[in-house]
Amino acid sequence: MKYQKPKGTNDILPKETKKWQFVETTARNILEKYDFHEIRTPMFEHIEVITRAVGESTDIVTKEMYDFTDKGNRHITLRPEGTAPLVRSYVENKLFGPEHQNPFKGYYFGPMFRYERQQAGRYRQFHQLGVEVIGSQNPATDAEGILLALDFFKSLGVTHTKLVINSLGTRENRKAYRQALIDYLEPLKQELSDDSKRRLESNPLRVLDSKDKKDKVIVENAPSILDYLDEESGAFFEEVKSLLDALGVAYEIDHRMVRGLDYYNHTVFEIMSDAPGFKGAITTICAGGRYDGLVAEFGGPDTHNAGFGFALGMERILITMDAEGIEIPSKPEVDVYVIGIGEETNVQSLKLTQLARDNNLSAERDFLNRKLKAQFKSADKLGAKVALIIGGTELENQVVRVKNMTTGTEEEVSLSDIYQDFATIYETILSK
Ligand code: HAM
Repeated sequence: MKYQKPKGTNDILPKETKKWQFVETTARNILEKYDFHEIRTPMFEHIEVITRAVGESTDIVTKEMYDFTDKGNRHITLRPEGTAPLVRSYVENKLFGPEHQNPFKGYYFGPMFRYERQQAGRYRQFHQLGVEVIGSQNPATDAEGILLALDFFKSLGVTHTKLVINSLGTRENRKAYRQALIDYLEPLKQELSDDSKRRLESNPLRVLDSKDKKDKVIVENAPSILDYLDEESGAFFEEVKSLLDALGVAYEIDHRMVRGLDYYNHTVFEIMSDAPGFKGAITTICAGGRYDGLVAEFGGPDTHNAGFGFALGMERILITMDAEGIEIPSKPEVDVYVIGIGEETNVQSLKLTQLARDNNLSAERDFLNRKLKAQFKSADKLGAKVALIIGGTELENQVVRVKNMTTGTEEEVSLSDIYQDFATIYETILSK
């Protein structure tokens, strides 16, 4: 039998993990600048945590959960997203208490699981970098979140991005809009795709998201949710827009952008990329919005009931970076390579390699008893700055050859000297 990874998953191999680490480090540096703190929640949750927050009739809950009953008969699901777990944790750990930062500003990295149809940039295990701010009703929080996301893309060198925003108003506004949308779509029901017919019953706002060509035409003339915002919601959206304007952020407004999770209200936004890696499709690489009310749903206090956040798809960012030809800065893999010739040098080679590591340098050696030339080749490939060469004769004479791999200068040094003052010998050869 040939074993293969499950459909929709990826093995992230060393060449790729370098890029992941670069993206993660860039993100952590920026998050620190914005005073966000990492929070790590479990990879699985009681299913109610997700259904309650994300919504019973959403695609995620109805079709995409990796859920199961565990040996203790608990209904568990792998987390499909990070907002519900974070809010659950916020309430459970009373992060609204006076000893904690208020608003709470948390971030997370990690795998999420959704049983989705595989396509370019869509996987069943994917990774998100998510950011959540809990406890601030200030529209400046929305603007700051969007600025942070844009800052992150800028730092990575990603330029093919477009910011789209919308407002969903309050729950009541949405309810009124939902009815208006049903009234508009109902007479056209027969012309809708099967998917949209179903959604019209269960979750009519999602018809606005349909990718079907005929649906798109019908949706063109649908009423706009922005006409259903009450005065306060309208003013809030105006404030978010004017803050973005004040900071010189370019955006588009799309009144049809409703997002696929039920907890949203007021501001929602997406950052899209049309990078060629997505095969002609415009893909969302970052998405989020406001979710006032979710904290109380989880039993948290009304005083801390406002939320705003977003999540970025890591795989999609990497596809975008590749498509835009962004190179990550590369550094040599090792400082020192130890070349040992003959089995009798095995112990000394290991000792010398450890010596370099003890001096805070990265080091590698040969383990395959290869010939001198092959070992030099490995040293070059790893970008070693210095090679330490030891063969039978050197061992007998208790010396080692120290070579500057850039200039070719080589010197013989006694083993006792090198063990006594490795740092000086290393620095000296580098200057020659
Ligand atoms: P979401 O729109 O479901 O929102 O996902 C956010 C991002 O995760 C997407 O824009 C995309 O980049 C990535 N993503 C989602 N599904 C997949 C997939 N199957 N394969 C690859 N990438 C994917 C949320 O998850 C919300 N929790 C975001 C949020 C945080 N809202 C407020 N706070």
